[in-house]
Amino acid sequence: MEPLSIVKYPHPALRWESKPVVEIDDRLRDAVKQMFALMYEAKGIGLAANQVALPWRMFVINPSGDPERTDEEFVFLNPDILRRKGSDEGEEGCLSLPELYGPVRRSTSLVIEAYDLEGRAFRMDLDDFPARVVQHEYDHIDGVLFIDRMSDLKRREYDDRLADFDAEFRKEQQTGAIVSDDELKRRLKELEPRE
Ligand code: NI
Repeated sequence: MEPLSIVKYPHPALRWESKPVVEIDDRLRDAVKQMFALMYEAKGIGLAANQVALPWRMFVINPSGDPERTDEEFVFLNPDILRRKGSDEGEEGCLSLPELYGPVRRSTSLVIEAYDLEGRAFRMDLDDFPARVVQHEYDHIDGVLFIDRMSDLKRREYDDRLADFDAEFRKEQQTGAIVSDDELKRRLKELEPRE
């Protein structure tokens, strides 16, 4: 796999509805390895495939944020959230929207099913912070960002910051540092898993 990097808002990958993984191969294992490395480098606690411009239903988390705590590392392939309970507001941020933080309402607890890197199905019951992290990452693979989960009123406070992200991205496209949206979408389409 070519070297991956974390893409920033408004990269079209962040609005992509990702497709289920159909095969666990070296390419996927390498992508996971790179995603953990990028996540730790950016001091994150979760990273979804969409955030490295891979249109795959997969994300990684380590709620401790500590690379030494490998017991806290989890890979979720083709995850499915089965049950959600409760509701709680908490502060979130996102590596694709650096230095932007805001309150998001999420379920307090959930049950999630997914496959691990060995292709084994597993189920986890999560509460509070890890449940929040998982919901945030799960949203990513559906092309949903945490800013979408804020009330319209609250979101308006972030409009200027989002416009700045947009202007920066468009500038990089104009200078050629980033290719056009059409080309980025063509690449995403090409990377979609095929049966
Ligand atoms: Ni995020």
